[in-house]
Amino acid sequence: MDIDLLKQAARDTAAKSYSPYSRFPVAVAFYNDEGEMFTGVNVENASYGLAICAERNAICSAVTAGSRTINTLVVYTPTQEPTPPCGACRQFIREFSNSATIISICDSDLELQASIAELLPGSFTLK
Ligand code: THU
Repeated sequence: MDIDLLKQAARDTAAKSYSPYSRFPVAVAFYNDEGEMFTGVNVENASYGLAICAERNAICSAVTAGSRTINTLVVYTPTQEPTPPCGACRQFIREFSNSATIISICDSDLELQASIAELLPGSFTLK
C-alpha cells in the first residue's frame, strides 16, 4: 500500500468538500485490507447539525461498495496544524477496525499518526 499516494488522494479530494458554513474543508482517503482506496469529504447543510464528516462519508462509500475493512486512513485539512478525527468518527472507524492506522496531514510538515485503538481506548463495541 502506497501511503504517499493515499496522502495525495486526500489532498486532491479536499476540493470536493461542501463546507460553506464552517469553511473548514476536510478530506479522507483510506485503504481497506485489500489495498483498495476510498475517499470522502465533509458535507454540510443549512441545518447545521446535519453536517456529515469526511471520515463517515468515506466509510459509507466503502460499505456501499461492499467493503468493510479499514487499514490505513489519511485525514487532510488545509491548515497549518493536523486535525485528528472527531469522537463520532473515531467510533465509526472502530466499527470496522480496532487496528487501523490514522494519519492526519495538513499544509505544513506536521503530521499525527495513531492507531484507532489509541484514539479510542476502551471503546464500545458489540463484536
Ligand atoms: N469535520 C470532519 O469532516 N471530520 C472531523 O473529524 C471533524 C470535523 C467537519 C465537520 C464540519 O463540516 C467541519 O469539519 C467543521 O467542524
